[in-house]
Amino acid sequence: MHGASDVMTSDPAEIPAAPVASVTGTLYGVGMGPGDPDYLTVRAVRVLERAHHLVHFCKAGKRGNARTIADAVVQDPAREWPLPYPYTTELPPDDPAYVAALAAFYDDAAMRLAEVLGAGRDVAILSEGDPFFYGSFMHLWRRLKDRFRVEVVPGVTGMSGCWTRAGTPITWGDDVLTVLPATLPRATLVARLSATDAAVVMKLGRHLPKVRAALTEAGLIARAVYVERGTMAGECVVPLSQKPDDRAPYFSMVLVPGEGRRP
Ligand SMILES: C[S@@+](CC[C@H](N)C(=O)[O-])C[C@H]1O[C@@H](n2cnc3c(N)ncnc32)[C@H](O)[C@@H]1O
Repeated sequence: MHGASDVMTSDPAEIPAAPVASVTGTLYGVGMGPGDPDYLTVRAVRVLERAHHLVHFCKAGKRGNARTIADAVVQDPAREWPLPYPYTTELPPDDPAYVAALAAFYDDAAMRLAEVLGAGRDVAILSEGDPFFYGSFMHLWRRLKDRFRVEVVPGVTGMSGCWTRAGTPITWGDDVLTVLPATLPRATLVARLSATDAAVVMKLGRHLPKVRAALTEAGLIARAVYVERGTMAGECVVPLSQKPDDRAPYFSMVLVPGEGRRP
């Protein structure tokens, strides 16, 4: 090992350059909570106030729910960076065209974010609920985490907001909770629902009739609660058995509260 003073040379071109401090930006995944901005954390607000770029996923031409939540604390179009998905519900998620388009979308977004992160600017990805829970943020995190400093700010999940607004505890004692995407095949839903004490079924949309049938087959329909836009404007909470139609927006879920030990 040689120290700097051990380097003997008469040619200035051979003198090793002094290390240049390279400061890259931080990639933040910011949990925005379930909808009502009052459920933003103090940490989330601090990051939103300071980050150079506020990135939010959205449907082309729309604002995106995470950005709407942020309106309560920041209104700064100059820092906004919308990332419109190439597809949302137009193609099934296992369609190769959908998979290829999404991969290209995330690759391109990661490349553009890497440029500003490399230039020392902080980027906040606004994530509805919690960033590490079915979050699109995770696809950028996976592509950037080995190159840049990352901080994830946890958020109140949508399901937590929904069972709170439904006024129902979800698990008691030793209850096992199963979280299911409604996109699963009906037989899988029935098997999983039949093997659990409590359940949350997310991503309902056009899958509600299938979910209703699976809950009926698993003997859980009487306990099922439908929550639409929990904590947001237009919230609706109703026992699923009393919901007269099978229409469900993207922000909706079914809760099956556990009935475990209650001393
Ligand atoms: C891609 S996942 C994102 C989950 C989010 N990262 C979280 O922590 O809750 C989207 C699904 O979450 C559920 N969801 C999230 N927030 C909700 C809310 N406020 N009300 C009803 N459903 C919600 C819906 O089932 C929706 O289809």
